[in-house]
Amino acid sequence: MKVGEIASTNPQSTKILEEAGLDYCCGGHESLHDACAHAGIPAEQILARLRASRAEAGPADADWASAPLADLTRHIREKHHRYVREAIPRVRALAGKVHAKHGANHPEILEIERLFLLLGQEMIMHMQKEEQILFPYIEALERCVKAKEPLEPPFFQTVRNPIYAMMKEHDSAGELTKQIRRISREYAPPPDACASYQALYQDLREFEADLHQHVHLENNILFPRAVELEQGAF
Ligand SMILES: [Fe+2]
Ligand SMILES: [Fe+2]
Repeated sequence: MKVGEIASTNPQSTKILEEAGLDYCCGGHESLHDACAHAGIPAEQILARLRASRAEAGPADADWASAPLADLTRHIREKHHRYVREAIPRVRALAGKVHAKHGANHPEILEIERLFLLLGQEMIMHMQKEEQILFPYIEALERCVKAKEPLEPPFFQTVRNPIYAMMKEHDSAGELTKQIRRISREYAPPPDACASYQALYQDLREFEADLHQHVHLENNILFPRAVELEQGAF
């Protein structure tokens, strides 16, 4: 089974994959076996944790594999896009503060600040494109299919085109968070770190975890379901 499919089976599984450092969003196409081999973790150990969590979890809070796509796009906007928009100014202010205080002794902070600035700019543009172009089209597509009404072909011809572009941008954001993770030595503050330094690393860790869940919902659930729906519509 692919890592992205495992992440879709139950909400607890994303937490387990996250903790194990397995990439279930951009790298979701890998099999669990391959992903574990690359990360140097025994696959059996992860499988055992996933099985235990499934037994515990019971029914998922929202089964995004079958819920209306308009509910999923709303959930992504209200949970993840809102979080990203709130977190960016907070993390940037914190990074500026830590830079001013610790930049001389910890030059890596400058690089983290630069990478996060880039990541924030990319994410804002990216979410705007999703909210203004891709999501409204997916929602209209779903309405028309349900009402058995014809749909005007979009200017981008097929939903596959903006999806392809969005997935490229997800890869870029994933790459930037990986660099931040590496430079911060897995978000480990140095021994002389003040409370702001610690809060910055905690925020950056949270930002990455939210991005993984966000990209997972889009790459592994929303986008494949939209492609399938469009195939049946024309
Ligand atoms: Fe998004
Ligand atoms: Fe996205």
